[in-house]
Amino acid sequence: MTRESWQTRIGFILAAVGSAVGLGNLWRFPWMTSENGGAAFLLVYLGVVLVVGVPGLLAEFVIGRRSRRNPVGALSDLSDSRAWSAFGHVFVVTAVVLLSFYSVVGGWILRYLAASATGAYFADPAAYFGAIDYGVEAVAFHLAFLAVTAGIVLRGVRRGIETATKLMMPAILALLVALAAWGVTLDGAAAGLEFYLSPDVGYLRANFLDILPAAAGQALFTLSLGAGTMLTYASYLGEDRSLAADGTAIAALNTFVGVLAGVVVFPILFALGAGAGGGGPGALFVSLAGAFAALPYGELVGVAFFGVVALAALSSSISMLEIPVSFLVDEYGVSRRGATTGLVGVFAVTGAVCALDPDVFSFVAGTLVNLLLTGGLVGFLLFAGWVMGADALDEYRTGAGSLAGDLATPWLYAAGVLIPVFLVFTFVSGLAAALGVTVGPLSVLGVTLDQTRVLVVVSVAVAVLSFVGLRRPNSVL
Ligand code: TRP
Repeated sequence: MTRESWQTRIGFILAAVGSAVGLGNLWRFPWMTSENGGAAFLLVYLGVVLVVGVPGLLAEFVIGRRSRRNPVGALSDLSDSRAWSAFGHVFVVTAVVLLSFYSVVGGWILRYLAASATGAYFADPAAYFGAIDYGVEAVAFHLAFLAVTAGIVLRGVRRGIETATKLMMPAILALLVALAAWGVTLDGAAAGLEFYLSPDVGYLRANFLDILPAAAGQALFTLSLGAGTMLTYASYLGEDRSLAADGTAIAALNTFVGVLAGVVVFPILFALGAGAGGGGPGALFVSLAGAFAALPYGELVGVAFFGVVALAALSSSISMLEIPVSFLVDEYGVSRRGATTGLVGVFAVTGAVCALDPDVFSFVAGTLVNLLLTGGLVGFLLFAGWVMGADALDEYRTGAGSLAGDLATPWLYAAGVLIPVFLVFTFVSGLAAALGVTVGPLSVLGVTLDQTRVLVVVSVAVAVLSFVGLRRPNSVL
């Protein structure tokens, strides 16, 4: 059976943007921004997207297009090593973790889409969300969201994913632009824009080390990095176009939508006196949905808004399901139909667990996802830099113009050395925070190191050790 491929280049770009643009932009980004100082967070986040996100995206693309396989097959084929093949299975686990909680939030969105039409939550938004967030009904809506996701993936790469995202992406953009244009005209919108767009330098300085890991986690999540989604999508590329140009376009479009989502959310919140408050996973559902209640034509605004969010969530959830589907199809010769239905059975159960237990949900959606994505991306970056080495450069240069081509070697150094050190640092600090461990202050040879310095030293040490262990004849570094 020949492997499927995208029909058009724009089809690939829209599918990748569709994967990137999702609840990460519309639900997680405003929530993270409001908890981390508004514009200060935005600034750091934009920096991380540029410095870590784009090179990371290219690493996944290079591995995917070179191997034309799913993440497990790609790592084992290109390395001929059992250890890498075993590591590849982590991505199947990551996909299960991601879609389990994502489908629960997707279910909430579907429910709010329906509830907006009648204004069901207008009277008391907080009580409404509190009554529907976890429980049997949440399971039912999760199953509905999962069923739609599976319906698209069943139809395959071209007829399902490409066609669906080609229709959904323009609709998302048009609706968001309209909502933003309307939001900024509200009385009091200016305060929202000020909070969101004019950074408080003092705050940034004082909290930089707290903002950084949060911004890094958000950047990976929103670009769909570290799970093998982008690798899998690049594996369906038939022709050799410039990966650097496509990657930059995808990151730029995704960032544009994220920033635009903030322009929709913050003016509405401030115009209605909710301020930046109302953090946590319920932010979108309580503060923003509550704001709709106070607006003229609130039902209409609600339906438009949750309609956009539902489309964006779907174009991302299909990319999560596609990871294990491509794994089963490539590696075990299972039919797409068999793989999809079998996996739906698994996700139905794992998602239901998240939909029933708030503690499981927040652990899975927060800590676990952050650690898996960060660790996963480190794996891809080291793989590109140290295992593929010269082949990665070659693949990067294929189809790249001279400008992008000149950046090949600097890219590989960044991807193979600098970015992994940075990500190991965020991984170790995230792990320490999750386990509630404090390391330091430590006294080494008469020098006292605070917690941050200890973590920096540990990160550099871990990175250097793994670089040495990974060196192969092909490594260019
Ligand atoms: N990026 C998507 C969002 O912002 C979510 C997503 C889809 C994702 N595929 C992924 C996140 C793979 C991490 C890894 O909603």
